[in-house]
Amino acid sequence: MKNCTRVREFVFLGLTMDRAMSWFLFFLLLLLYVATLLGNLFIMVTVTWESRLHTPMYFLLRNLSIADICFSSITTPKLLVDLLSESKTISFNGCLVQMFFFHLIGGMDVATLSVIALDRYMAISRPLHYVTIMSTGACTGLIVACWLSGFVHSIVQIALFLPLPFCGSNVLDTFYCDVQQVLELASTDIFVLEMLMISNNGLLTTLWFFLLLLSYFIILLLIRAQAGEGRKKAISTCTSHVTVVTLHFVPCIYIYARPFSALPTDKPIHVTLTVISPLLNPLIYTLRNQEMKSAMQRLRKRLSVCSHKQIQNKMK
Ligand SMILES: *[C@@H]1O[C@H](CO)[C@@H](O)[C@H](O)[C@H]1NC(C)=O
Repeated sequence: MKNCTRVREFVFLGLTMDRAMSWFLFFLLLLLYVATLLGNLFIMVTVTWESRLHTPMYFLLRNLSIADICFSSITTPKLLVDLLSESKTISFNGCLVQMFFFHLIGGMDVATLSVIALDRYMAISRPLHYVTIMSTGACTGLIVACWLSGFVHSIVQIALFLPLPFCGSNVLDTFYCDVQQVLELASTDIFVLEMLMISNNGLLTTLWFFLLLLSYFIILLLIRAQAGEGRKKAISTCTSHVTVVTLHFVPCIYIYARPFSALPTDKPIHVTLTVISPLLNPLIYTLRNQEMKSAMQRLRKRLSVCSHKQIQNKMK
């Protein structure tokens, strides 16, 4: 290792070498990215403007929308530029920064989904004490805890990467820097590190996923035991949450919960995780959630009343 000059940059092979295919993917992914930005912004605006949605659950969803916008912005813009350029490179430090933020926001996302489950559990099992338990202070504390857990999860991995020697190949057969592909390029024995990464990412997400599914199962059982008006609404809300949780976790488990070896299905799954997952929240909450749907209708009415008034004012 004496003559190891560290590589200055990494080269992505990207999604495709084909020119026409690149343009096609560019437009498709650009469309999905713009939809992600607009959809999540739309959720933020609706929750902010509609006072009936000023509850902890919708504030948490607004946090999730911010996280989703950040998450897709870590990888997608670089991917879009790379699709149209000949040389797809990223500097060594740029690669570390991308990994850091990817896992910071990814970890925060997972933690927020868990807090949403906790919020639903409290609302359904302790309806009389819910307002005092999920107070503004408690919610803010939980959100801070989400960011902190994302930070710890991410900084641990970056700290493990920093001392590694990288002086061999610098070609990554992917379109963004993530732990497993970059670790493969380290010029040292990576077995122990690989096991650490699998436990920090794969094992953690798998266990967490089953824990979340179990808690939603319990929540649904509690709802079924209750009678009354809100039952249908509560079930619809919880099934939206279960769908979002499943679609977020399954690609993560596929990517991280196995020893690192390239499979032909890797790239589509990576695209799903980085480009499509952040779009899921707006899609699922706007198409499925009754409360959100009626909030948007009211918002639309209010906007059209506003524009009518503006027109009337102009005519005067
Ligand atoms: C994030 O969640 C906290 C706790 O519910 C809330 O107070 C805060 O307003 C949310 N932030 C955003 C931007 O939605």
